[in-house]
Amino acid sequence: EKGGYDHFMMKEMTEQPKAMVDTLAGRLNTDGIRLDDINLDAETMKNINRIHIVACGTAYHAGMVGKFYFEKFARIAVETEAASEYRYKDPILDKKTLLIVVSQSGETADTLAAIRLAKEKGARVLAVTNVVGSSIAREADDVLYTNAGPEIAVASTKAYLTQVGCMLVLAMHLGQLNGEIISEEMKRLGHALLNTPELVQKAMESKEAVKTFAYQHFNINDLFFIGRGLDFYTCLEGSLKLKEISYIHSEAYAAGELKHGPIALIDDGTIVVAVCTQEKVFEKMLSNIKEVKARGAFVLAIVQEAHKGIASEVDEVFVIPNMDDDITPIPTVVYLQLLAYYLAVARGCDVDKPKNLAKSVTVE
Ligand code: M6R
Repeated sequence: EKGGYDHFMMKEMTEQPKAMVDTLAGRLNTDGIRLDDINLDAETMKNINRIHIVACGTAYHAGMVGKFYFEKFARIAVETEAASEYRYKDPILDKKTLLIVVSQSGETADTLAAIRLAKEKGARVLAVTNVVGSSIAREADDVLYTNAGPEIAVASTKAYLTQVGCMLVLAMHLGQLNGEIISEEMKRLGHALLNTPELVQKAMESKEAVKTFAYQHFNINDLFFIGRGLDFYTCLEGSLKLKEISYIHSEAYAAGELKHGPIALIDDGTIVVAVCTQEKVFEKMLSNIKEVKARGAFVLAIVQEAHKGIASEVDEVFVIPNMDDDITPIPTVVYLQLLAYYLAVARGCDVDKPKNLAKSVTVE
């Protein structure tokens, strides 16, 4: 049932290119986005003035990427919050709010509670989920399925990737409905998205390099991830993945926050994974790398091909092909999934069933 792989997690990571194809199928065409499965039309969107994205864990990280996309391409104000926080607050929520929940299983208790709260206040609810007929799918007004196929490993991989894909497709759809996205941009993003399965495949082909790195460093106690913009969300996801399956303590920081405290923790040999795929902040990342290097950090950088020259500044580099900056979270996270996976395997951890964790958190 593991299809010849040692773990479901590896099987599911390997399935990611196909999962991406299935997520995009029928939704993306040459002149735009078609989402036949949901009923959000221009008329409905006229009455929406804000979006709340609510989810837990990995799905919450996909929601953060979603906020970035919705604000950039549809110019709608978005709040992203953990469902366990949202449900116990008094969020500003009314019939002009669109609540988007993200959930692989469609059964997460806190996320379901957020839907009920929003519906009570008259908000419209759209669910991005992987499981057809799940509680969340049934209670939402609209459902956009991720089409990732069954995910068994506790550590979510292909679900995350497809959630991010759905976020971008939805942002393009909303931008299209409210006229905020120009056709040039639509073409650029469409083209970039169509390339993602191949980029993910390429990232998976780097697994030996990631494995070698992991086996050289599996004895570590701490690991830091730093990034800016979209890279920061990838860092959060990489850090969660690492904690849950390898039990290595790790932190993810927006690189600009380093100086405001966490840099005090960087010592001789501390591993810092610097995700630097965003051109706009590349120079800023370089400065952050120099700061941690000056304190003795061992730096692994992830960059697009155009910046492979960073090798002279850092200890190790993983190079991804040059691509549109807006889609880098999709292939980049694969490196961090692989890193967590191989560090966990090297440490003898039960990758598919980490201690204290359940696949789906149906009680609070
Ligand atoms: O099924 P859901 O997407 O609602 O689950 C949310 C989280 O419990 C889940 O993403 C969790 O963080 C994963 N184990 C992460 O790998």
